[in-house]
Amino acid sequence: MTTQKTDTQLDTPGLVFPTGFVWGAATSAYQIEGAVSTDGRGRSIWDTFVSQPGHVVNGEHADVAIDHYNRYRDDVRLMADLGLSAYRFSVSWPRIQPLGSGAINAKGLDFYKSLVDELLSYGIDPWITLYHWDLPQALEDAGGWPSRDTSKRFADYAAAVHGALGDRVKNWSTVNEPWCAAFLGYASGEHAPGRREPALAFHAAHHLNLAHGLAVEAMRAQHADSRIGGSVNLYAVTPATESEADQDAARRIDGLQNRFFLDAIMYGRYPDDVLADLSHLTGPEFIKDGDLALIAAPLDMLLINYYSRFTVSGAPGGAQSAAAAPTDSGSPWVGSEHVGFVNGGRPVTSMGWEVDGTGLYEVLTRLAREYPAIPLYISENGAAYDDVLTEDGAVHDVERRAFIETHLRVCHQAIEGGVPLQGYFAWSLMDNFEWAWGYGKRFGLVYVDYSAQTRILKDSALWYAETIRHGGLRG
Ligand code: NOJ
Repeated sequence: MTTQKTDTQLDTPGLVFPTGFVWGAATSAYQIEGAVSTDGRGRSIWDTFVSQPGHVVNGEHADVAIDHYNRYRDDVRLMADLGLSAYRFSVSWPRIQPLGSGAINAKGLDFYKSLVDELLSYGIDPWITLYHWDLPQALEDAGGWPSRDTSKRFADYAAAVHGALGDRVKNWSTVNEPWCAAFLGYASGEHAPGRREPALAFHAAHHLNLAHGLAVEAMRAQHADSRIGGSVNLYAVTPATESEADQDAARRIDGLQNRFFLDAIMYGRYPDDVLADLSHLTGPEFIKDGDLALIAAPLDMLLINYYSRFTVSGAPGGAQSAAAAPTDSGSPWVGSEHVGFVNGGRPVTSMGWEVDGTGLYEVLTRLAREYPAIPLYISENGAAYDDVLTEDGAVHDVERRAFIETHLRVCHQAIEGGVPLQGYFAWSLMDNFEWAWGYGKRFGLVYVDYSAQTRILKDSALWYAETIRHGGLRG
């Protein structure tokens, strides 16, 4: 007779994460809330962008999205069912300040107060992101992120939200993925506000960094016990070959994507090579004395969004080649016009992004080496796949589960090797509006039937819940 093994007697040892490791999931306001005209919310650049033809697949928009604004209680209950210890969400600036400055819209703030209270009532730690790309349209009309004034407006807004919620919310981050906000928004125009002005995209990047620094300063002055971090999207970058041209291409992409932001917020400097790569576009006059010291305001943690690796070539070619776009617009890889992106031969998600857990290991160990002594969190990691709701009412998303498991194994390995990684947030809690891709790209642990607005736990969600319950991966 065979006896059933208990969890603690598994044949292969499980991977147990340190006590206190944060198990989370993430979303952002515009991607889930809907209710774009409710309770005095102002218009954001994304409302404008989606209303213009050709910007989003199938002309989709997020006027309703997944109706989280009205269903947040049910959604929080789902999080509790999954056993999440933390939930990362963003606050919509135009709900708080409909015109981006001046008086606070109390009803907008009330929504987030209620959401936070609901989370706390289930013991789920709220992690607030202050900017996840929904700039009030009025501020774009006044110049947007290329204008220095937007950074100051952001600090005021951050202080208002933090002043109202800082007593109940401990963990804060400023700007989500400044690279995307700057270069997809102002260079390639793939994201709102859809401008193609490469030089100004650099000004935008600097002002997003400045906004981060000013906001950190403003928040520090209010609740000294807050934990504040910056949030960056980092990639492993490798040259396609050892040739000089490929290595230089890798240097450029790493510089623009990773080092430009990390060196600024961690060390208060922009890499000389990146400034040199850009010198044909813009001089550095927009970087004022004292800016970099503000940008490098000390942080309590670094939040990392990791999805994939870039394999790059100095001899342009391939579908994603930056050189395929006109050199003065159309590519976010400003200053790297002669760089091509090469398929590294790994399996891809439905976004076409290569699945590469070792890239995460490289990113984490590099951070621990080059930017040491700061606690790290994976604030986003996940994958879009073409999910199918089967007749049994389930979504057997084997690939997503494998994706997350692979990346969690890497996290564990990094921790064992001494990397100060303290938490992991899956992107995303629920399927939602994937920006220019609309609703076709599903990243959720939870499946959303968009017409009925029902939520169904995918197999990956059930597996993640079990992982959380075990404090790690079973063998
Ligand atoms: C990063 C962004 O922060 C998030 O909004 C987006 O949905 C995911 N990446 C997937 O593309």
